[in-house]
Amino acid sequence: MPIRHLRISGVRNLQPLVFDPHPNVNFIYGDNGSGKTSILESIALMASGKSFRTSQLKHVMSHEHDRIEMRVGIEDPDRGDCEMESLRLRGGDHLLKLNGSILTSQAEAAHWLPVQIIEPNTFKLLSGSPEERRAFIDWGVFHVEQSFMEQWKTFRKHLKQRNAVLKQKQAEWLDVWNSGFIEGAEAIDTQRQAYLARFKPEFIRILNELDPAISVTLAYYPGWEKDSQLADILERQQERDMVLGYTQSGPHRAELRIKCDKQPAAEILSRGQQKTVVAALKIAQGSLFQQESGRQTIYLVDDLASELDEKHRFALCKLLEELKCQVFITSIDKEKLTDVWKPISSKVFHVEHGDLKQVDNE
Ligand SMILES: Nc1ncnc2c1ncn2[C@@H]1O[C@H](COP(=O)(O)OP(=O)(O)OP(=O)(O)O)[C@@H](O)[C@H]1O
Ligand SMILES: [Mg+2]
Repeated sequence: MPIRHLRISGVRNLQPLVFDPHPNVNFIYGDNGSGKTSILESIALMASGKSFRTSQLKHVMSHEHDRIEMRVGIEDPDRGDCEMESLRLRGGDHLLKLNGSILTSQAEAAHWLPVQIIEPNTFKLLSGSPEERRAFIDWGVFHVEQSFMEQWKTFRKHLKQRNAVLKQKQAEWLDVWNSGFIEGAEAIDTQRQAYLARFKPEFIRILNELDPAISVTLAYYPGWEKDSQLADILERQQERDMVLGYTQSGPHRAELRIKCDKQPAAEILSRGQQKTVVAALKIAQGSLFQQESGRQTIYLVDDLASELDEKHRFALCKLLEELKCQVFITSIDKEKLTDVWKPISSKVFHVEHGDLKQVDNE
């Protein structure tokens, strides 16, 4: 489901942009500060409602504008062509539309625009908080299992209620919330485990193609002791939960441990190696998504050359080409992009002072 048409205005230094990306590879090059990352950031914002650069969306809006307007035309093999529009005002209001009808949830936009991001900070997927790795697993489950989002919402309601009861020290009410909490927790855990069982071999295969010398293991921890029943754990931890005012165990505490020689990979691997592992995680996720849904992920690869040498850049690009999906890939130099990779079908764009122009593909 490539983006066929893109309109962006009001984002950082970008001039109002209108362009038709290539359904496969789009190279975007330009000097520091020209606006390359801002273009990828706009696409990510449309898809996920979030920026990969800042948690405060007010920084994404151009200083000179009071609104961000975006429009994407998407070609979808199952659902036909569609147009998504997003309007964000400085006060924080947001309007999202699909084919003219208002969308009430960002999740629906994410379904239409499944986006994977590989950028200089992505190594944080290894070194950052468990929440990032949970979000990573859940992306995979969410995009394949339609029911997952609803399951999460129901579980969160139970968790919230249970925590409220703990805070108010109303032990007699815990039983009321425990059964729904446990049922929801186990359903989420089952979906995550099933996903990871399918994901791991694909990840190992992709990592081996990117760099056979790197060996890492993935170990999933559901958020409670593996060999115990969650009901028993909740009972055992009840007193402590009551003191803390929150639930210590459950899928909201799950973790994907990524290890190298039994140590956390983030402590052992070099930055370039970490970036390679993260790229393997993201490409494996897109590849599995494609195999299971018949749909494709859009890859946003920012600053390809940072921390990756030529050999690794080539291996990464080759894998992206094999996926035959749409890729937006940026670099400061045109040569750093096109020296290692000459895909058959691509467009090259140059960004200067926030303006984007298609250039000769030579
Ligand atoms: N809210 C804003 N309004 C206007 N301009 C902004 C805003 N936020 C950032 N900028 C400017 O936007 C420009 C584009 O930044 P961007 O990060 O997209 O550049 P880049 O091409 O990715 O650069 P680099 O090669 O250094 O990564 C920068 O010059 C920055 O100072
Ligand atoms: Mg940049």
